[in-house]
Parts: sequence; structure tokens; C-alpha cells
Amino acid sequence: MTDARFSSVDSVRDQLREVDYLSDEGIAGIIYLADRLGKPILVEGPAGTGKTQLAKSTAEILGARLIRLQCYEGLDESKALYEWNYKKQLLRIQATKADSDDTGWADVSEDIFSDDFLLTRPLLEAITADEPVVLLIDEVDRVEVETEALLLEILSDYQVSIPELGTITAKQIPLVFLTSNNTRELSEALKRRCLYLHVDYPDMEREKEIVLTKVPNITESLADQVARIVRSIRQIELKKAPSVSETLDWANTLMLLGVENVDAETAADTVNILLKYQSDIAKARKEFAADSAAFEAAAT
Ligand SMILES: Nc1ncnc2c1ncn2[C@@H]1O[C@H](COP(=O)(O)OP(=O)(O)OP(=O)(O)O)[C@@H](O)[C@H]1O
Ligand SMILES: [Mg+2]
Repeated sequence: MTDARFSSVDSVRDQLREVDYLSDEGIAGIIYLADRLGKPILVEGPAGTGKTQLAKSTAEILGARLIRLQCYEGLDESKALYEWNYKKQLLRIQATKADSDDTGWADVSEDIFSDDFLLTRPLLEAITADEPVVLLIDEVDRVEVETEALLLEILSDYQVSIPELGTITAKQIPLVFLTSNNTRELSEALKRRCLYLHVDYPDMEREKEIVLTKVPNITESLADQVARIVRSIRQIELKKAPSVSETLDWANTLMLLGVENVDAETAADTVNILLKYQSDIAKARKEFAADSAAFEAAAT
């Protein structure tokens, strides 16, 4: 068993804050538990809510190497786990042939199916690392269900079986994050092996804090207006609600424009930074026009 990395839930939260990641009780609690139980965390939630960043920030506070497996349709074993370096194997076979006639196939095959001829991919890399590691399996919902099976051995036993080599077991249990945008249901087998964390849009207070932390020189008052308006936009029925990263883009835009108070007109002029569908933009503008009194109130 690896020694505990965190002393308490609060310490997770405080350390994450130090690297500019604003978590809450739920997020910090799951990281604390995952560490204690030696279990992977499956992080699910809408786009741009800080799922990937959570793994990065956790690696940062631990001073651990972040090993990332970016998932995509068609990802296979040779890109996720390992691959034999067959060019090198061929060369070795040719060299052996040229050298002598009496080396048997058994010797050669033992030789070419050894560590030296193995190309490690992210999952095996994480298992064999000597130093502390955070493994991020990003956007796992993009791989086919059958490919998920590749992950199961790692997630439950922290080991990889290679037919020619045997089983390679982790020297230390890495902290593992899997993220998903929930574009499809993940298998029961995968879910069962993980602790589950749903990361939703932050509440207004936390989003304001994120803006204050991430946008240089922004005033408390502007950050507050930004968080408020974004929240009200998320309450409209939209194709795609603004994410935290879009909130940050918008706040940066307002800063660049020298805006101090966001009135209905400014909001309408810049809402294309927050929303990416014309129909959503039109809806939001209509809402702003109808509710311009609310902007006056928010700005004071
Ligand atoms: N809690 C937070 N504290 C600080 N920054 C945050 C937080 N949540 C989101 N962000 C900011 O939002 C950006 C987007 O987050 P991230 O890329 O992690 O989203 P995601 O959930 O992985 O999105 P996707 O599902 O599209 O991959 C980050 O770069 C970060 O700057
Ligand atoms: Mg992501």
C-alpha cells in the first residue's frame, strides 16, 4: 500500500486552492477517499467544468508526473498499453542470422520479447514508473465499449499482463482519474472499479472565486457581475450552456474592453464569447433586453 498522500479533506482543498483550483467539499472529499482506498476516480460532468484540470492540478500539488492517455474512437492496445518494437525485433533477428547459424529460435524469441523491445504506452508507463505518478485517462467515453476492457486490469489490480513477458505489477499505486462527458453510458465493469464524482457547473460563489483567481486584475465587483450573469444565462433553455472556461474567456474579454459595469447592451454585444450557437445567442439577447433592469441592480 502506498502511504497516504493527504492528511484530511480540508488539506486537499487548501492545496488545490494554492495551485488555483477551486474545489468544493465533494471534489476534495473524493480525492481524499481515492487516495485512502487506492481507487480510481471517474469524473463526469458537462464540458469545461474543470474535470481535466482537476487531474492536472492534483498532479501539481503532489509534485507527481502527469501521464495522460487521451482517448479517441479507434484507440487500441498498441496506443494505450504497449507495443512490440517490431522493426528492432526484425533487425535483431537478421543480425542473429548473420552472426551464427546455431542460435535456436527459442533463444532469439526470448531475446526479442524482452523489455528492450517493448514500447511502453501511457498505461504501462504509469504502472512501471518509479516516481510518483498521476494517471489521467481523459474522455474515456470516446472509446468503444470493447476497448474499455483494456482498462479493467489496470483499474482494479494496477497491473498489466503481457503474454510474452508475464504480469507487470505497479511499484506504487498511482492516483488515477478518468474523465467522461457522458456521451455514452460506460460499462458497469468500469464503473464498479471507480469512485464516482460528478462535477457540475460551480455555484455562483465558487465561479466568482474562479474568475477572481484566474483573471488578472479583475475587480471583485466585475467578477461578481460575471458570475451572476452567467448563472442567469445557464437558467435559460439552451443548446449548450456556457462552461467555466467560457466564463473565463468572457471575463478576460470584458477586461480587455475596459468594462467596469456590465449593462444589458455590453452583455448583448459580447455574449458570443459565452455562447456558440446562434439560436442560443439570440435567446440570451432577448432575455437581456427584457431584463435590463436587473443589470442596473447587479451593477450597483
Ligand atoms: N474549479 C476550477 N478552478 C479553477 N479553474 C477552473 C475550475 N474549473 C474549471 N476551470 C478552468 O476551466 C478550464 C477548463 O477546464 P477543463 O479543461 O478541465 O474542463 P473539462 O471539464 O475537462 O472540459 P471537457 O469536458 O471539455 O474536456 C480550465 O483550464 C480551468 O482554467
Ligand atoms: Mg477535459
